[in-house]
Amino acid sequence: MNTPIRDFVAAYQQKKTARLHMPGHKGMGPLGCEAMDITEIQGADALYEAAGVIAESEKNASALFDTRCTCYSAEGSTQCIKAMLHLALKFHGGQGRPVALAGRNAHKAFLYAAALCDFDVQWLYPEHQSDRCACPITAEGVARALEQMNEMPFCVYITSPDYLGGITDVEGIARACHARGVPLLVDNAHGAYLKFMPEDAHPMALGADLCADSAHKTLPVLTGGAYLHIGKGALQPYERHAKEAMALFGSTSPSYLILQSLDCANAYLEKDFPGRLGDLCRRLDACKEELRQRGFSVLPGERIKLVLKGDGPGLCNRLSENNIAWEFADDSHVVLMFSPENGEEDFARLDRALQCPLPPKEGRAPALSPLPRAVTIRQAIFAPSEMIPVEKALHRICAAPTVSCPPAVPIVISGEIITHDALAALIYWGVDQISVIKE
Ligand SMILES: Cc1ncc(COP(=O)(O)O)c(C=O)c1O
Repeated sequence: MNTPIRDFVAAYQQKKTARLHMPGHKGMGPLGCEAMDITEIQGADALYEAAGVIAESEKNASALFDTRCTCYSAEGSTQCIKAMLHLALKFHGGQGRPVALAGRNAHKAFLYAAALCDFDVQWLYPEHQSDRCACPITAEGVARALEQMNEMPFCVYITSPDYLGGITDVEGIARACHARGVPLLVDNAHGAYLKFMPEDAHPMALGADLCADSAHKTLPVLTGGAYLHIGKGALQPYERHAKEAMALFGSTSPSYLILQSLDCANAYLEKDFPGRLGDLCRRLDACKEELRQRGFSVLPGERIKLVLKGDGPGLCNRLSENNIAWEFADDSHVVLMFSPENGEEDFARLDRALQCPLPPKEGRAPALSPLPRAVTIRQAIFAPSEMIPVEKALHRICAAPTVSCPPAVPIVISGEIITHDALAALIYWGVDQISVIKE
């Protein structure tokens, strides 16, 4: 597979052209990568009107992911999530205020999209007690919820995989959605690699209409690189407005470092990656089995994540002592993310760090339950607001989603009233300040 964006920039670098264009570093600087950092000059194409090297590279990605259309993002899945929701709304024929039917563990990018595009949300809650990052909903649950709605939602929106490695039945949910003519949108930020697994488990192969992949989270791509994919069987011709939708939420100066990284990834993904990913999965399966033998509680789910249930802070201390940085940890979980780029030395460190388990401390995480809503998400996010200590927030209305990243899964949704239960959940999850609407 060719790499047209990288080839263009490499040729430009070689020519040593006088750079009388942006950016101001003129190809020199302390990072060492400045010479590769250009802008949309003659021949470099333009991300949102792609017809040259970018269009060619995006076609390569589309072929790799077997999609009807794939668009690059240099601003993460955050941009793709907003764009796909905007697209679903654009093709929605319904009357009245549009509603999305969405898993309650949505990333805050989804809430920002609800505020910017002004739609309402009917939440799908997990059928059994679960963590705030997980929302194990089923195809039957989605079918039931759709049956009970008077007006069809403009989309069903799910997050799979979730932060704790949980994988949802995308195929079954897609069938349930399509039976009612509703598109399925998947936040696949954590799952770009699924395409290259021995068994293709990518949402595009399982019938989703649109999905957002953070290439940078699991593939060898610079931070910020992501894809908006449109499925071959998508219910609407979303591709006609895809670039327009991405432009609505993106900068007019996309990073060419990130675009080149996405471009180069195509060649690598096509060649070595699937084999190396298979090797990694087998290596991690063995590692997880060994940890289980030692008494660790290892959560099932994604094969390239190692999710330990236990005393989060205690486990993090052990990881730190062995010079290991983790992806995410809370009171009772530690999430470690691997890719084929991790070497044996990393596994050896892990082995030293995790000699014996540390059980979780007493106390059960509160379940997320429906809260009364006072105003729409848009009204709440755009209202005059103030930050107050969480203990003083009882009966106040949540404004901006107060949640740090990771996992950026809001505990209280903008516009909801903070009840006693919500307060307990916020305190449990260590939130000490919260944004509320001014009274
Ligand atoms: C589930 C989920 N969705 C979306 C995002 C946003 O992705 P990005 O950082 O690529 O914008 C994240 C980021 O961590 C995430 O965890």
